[in-house]
Amino acid sequence: MFQTAAKTFFVSAATASAYRRVFLVGLRRYCKKTSTKLRVSEALSGAQLGADVKVQGWVRSVRPQKNNIFLHVNDGSSLQSLQIVADAKLNDPLLTFGSAVEVTGTLKNSPHQKQPVELEAEQIRVVGECNPVNFPFKIKKRHSLEYIRQLPHLRCRTNAFSSLLRIRSEATAAIHSYFKNNGFVQIHTPIITSNDCEGAGELFQVEPSGPAMVGDENFFSVPAFLTVSGQLHLEVMSGAFSRVYTFGPTFRAENSQSRRHLAEFFMVEAEISFTESLEDLTKVIEDVFRSATERVLARCAEDVDLFHRHVTPGHRDTVEAMLNKSFPVISYTEAIDILHRSSEKFTFPTDWGCDLMTEHEKYLVKHCGNVPVFVTDYPYDLKPFYARDNQDHPKHTAAAVDLLVPGVGELCGGSLREERLNLLMDRLKRVGLEDTYNWYLDLRRFGSVPHGGFGLGFERYLQCVLGVDNIKDVIPFPRFSHSCLL
Ligand code: 4AD
Repeated sequence: MFQTAAKTFFVSAATASAYRRVFLVGLRRYCKKTSTKLRVSEALSGAQLGADVKVQGWVRSVRPQKNNIFLHVNDGSSLQSLQIVADAKLNDPLLTFGSAVEVTGTLKNSPHQKQPVELEAEQIRVVGECNPVNFPFKIKKRHSLEYIRQLPHLRCRTNAFSSLLRIRSEATAAIHSYFKNNGFVQIHTPIITSNDCEGAGELFQVEPSGPAMVGDENFFSVPAFLTVSGQLHLEVMSGAFSRVYTFGPTFRAENSQSRRHLAEFFMVEAEISFTESLEDLTKVIEDVFRSATERVLARCAEDVDLFHRHVTPGHRDTVEAMLNKSFPVISYTEAIDILHRSSEKFTFPTDWGCDLMTEHEKYLVKHCGNVPVFVTDYPYDLKPFYARDNQDHPKHTAAAVDLLVPGVGELCGGSLREERLNLLMDRLKRVGLEDTYNWYLDLRRFGSVPHGGFGLGFERYLQCVLGVDNIKDVIPFPRFSHSCLL
């Protein structure tokens, strides 16, 4: 009898558990069917008012009250977080600043002015806990860029750095759009190359590590490096497509801890065929700058505002001045005259023939009204072999141009390229590079045309628009000498 009773009990327990399973599956399916998964930015747009939605993200604030609990949840889709209102019953000790949550509920109009929409929660699930004592960011505290820089694996969780990364993403898209809309073909120039773009910067050499290393032999037969510029590869392509560009990682092994140098940075480079004047280049540079900046200001208004208000107060006016005025153009010779006439004490010499240093660049920008300024026609000997000879003795110059911008100094470097075979060959002979660059001379032997191009440092561009002092604060994972890599 006891056995029968036990059997009945187990059978009914099994039946009950089967029913429960069916019920839960049904409930889950029901929830799935009716809760639309939304990004926080979509929820905030108000388009889904009244809908049952699911939002996933990280808790930015928790405010428990007697009857209710208020949370702010952010998923990186916008600077603003979504306010969640829940019955106090749904409070959970694991609902802490920094924890990851999934919230389902109904989107409602919020009675609070600051927040037009809020999510009335029916269910809150803590997906990932976060101990607020050990978490290096503290609720409601504004951490400095210097502090968050020490936490490269976590700084994207802060408002400032997540804004920066959204702006960076939008600026990237804007630059690609500019080139696409203006008939440029994008070229993926190589990262590993044997050319050093003639002194564009110090090189990182590439060799296999461990057993793949074969004695003293080079893996690629020739010494190979991480690219310092895609220019020469773009010149190859400009000989077939007329207008080409590349936008990718670029490497310089400068042992510099400066606020505007990285070992790995992103460069936008363009090369244009059938162009005979520096004005053609300065026009493209100015257009890229303007169109990217206007789009970023329009599409990332809140994110940019965070920088212009809290990180670099007053910088908004500088950016507006840059957009409202056209960029002045001065020659290198005029620049030297301006520096000579100034009462400023410079550390580095300002004689004709000397390179312009950051202190000179910043002075020239201020002198020209704190807007971007083009400096053209540099001394021939300061520029690499490919820069076009102006043949304008006695002051022998090359048709090269730099764009100097407020707060940063040099943002772009470019030139017309020497398209005349005999002049190029002579120069290469003088520096003993005729054989190395025989392939490059072929570009002048077969269908050579006047052409030119430039490179724009993308991180310096972001520094300039946001007013950020240190280049390490505008790239997701900065690489520089003596840095510990993630
Ligand atoms: O002036 P650069 O060295 O120009 C070239 O490499 C040319 N071959 C480009 C071309 O004509 N296609 O570099 C271009 C820009 C600089 O003006 C600067 O903004 C940025 O790249 N840049 C750096 N940015 C961050 N860290 C560094 N170490 C940089 N070196 C150059």
